Amino acid sequence: MLEIKNLNKVYPNGYHALHDISFSVPKGEFLVVIGLSGSGKSTMLRCINRLHDPTGGEILFHGVDTTKLKGASLRKIRSEIGMVFQHFNLIPRRSVMANVLSGNLSRTGIFKSILGIYSAEDKALAMKYIGIVGLSGKERNRADNLSGGQQQRVAIARALMQNPKILLADEPVASLDPATSHSVMQYLKKVNEELGVTVICNLHFLSLVRQYAHRVVALKGGKLIYDGKPLEISEEWFKTIYGEDAVEVTIN
Ligand SMILES: Nc1ncnc2c1ncn2[C@@H]1O[C@H](COP(=O)(O)OP(=O)(O)O)[C@@H](O)[C@H]1O
Ligand SMILES: [Mg+2]
Repeated sequence: MLEIKNLNKVYPNGYHALHDISFSVPKGEFLVVIGLSGSGKSTMLRCINRLHDPTGGEILFHGVDTTKLKGASLRKIRSEIGMVFQHFNLIPRRSVMANVLSGNLSRTGIFKSILGIYSAEDKALAMKYIGIVGLSGKERNRADNLSGGQQQRVAIARALMQNPKILLADEPVASLDPATSHSVMQYLKKVNEELGVTVICNLHFLSLVRQYAHRVVALKGGKLIYDGKPLEISEEWFKTIYGEDAVEVTIN
């Protein structure tokens, strides 16, 4: 489904953030990307959905190189790639329903979205996705009245409104406490298994990785240094990825 070949990203200030990254992601996989802060995880996700322009290499999405796309064809590809962020990025004063409906911007158009004009079909879809993330009954609640975990689940439902083929999640649980982290991860897993959406998720904690990832890739200094099964990450690999002095912290 997704094939990344020799991806490079040099920022305008000259910083070389990604070096010749290559890997592929089959349809339906739950891939987790790990690595220290600054290793290039966010840069990589942002290249995949073209929030950033890669400076070299190819990103083949269903065989089409997205790094060359512009205009309408870029918008189309983007609409197939949903994104969830660490800080949720909801509109705080709007309702859960309004936030989820806003995920459909590419189909609704910005004017209708601002005026809150949505079709009955869109409203039904939004209700469905709100149900999938376990928030039925909270449609009219203001987003900023929800807990962090619930807000992240709203963000997941909003991303689903695009009917994405891939969901990119950039440290979706980094702002949450351990119990809530699991809840959010479980909903991502549900989206992956029940809706068949391929998930690429950046994570800090290895314990979560072992529990949710089908496969894991590790970045270090912008290079891909590990690609394999989560259970194959030995103590030695752990030290290579996180540094000699690192100690594993477990989220129970
Ligand atoms: N806009 C930017 N301009 C220059 N350097 C950047 C920019 N964004 C990120 N970087 C640098 O690129 C590296 C990778 O950053 P990032 O992808 O955010 O890592 P991670 O998500 O793994 O913490 C870091 O050293 C960071 O300082
Ligand atoms: Mg990051």
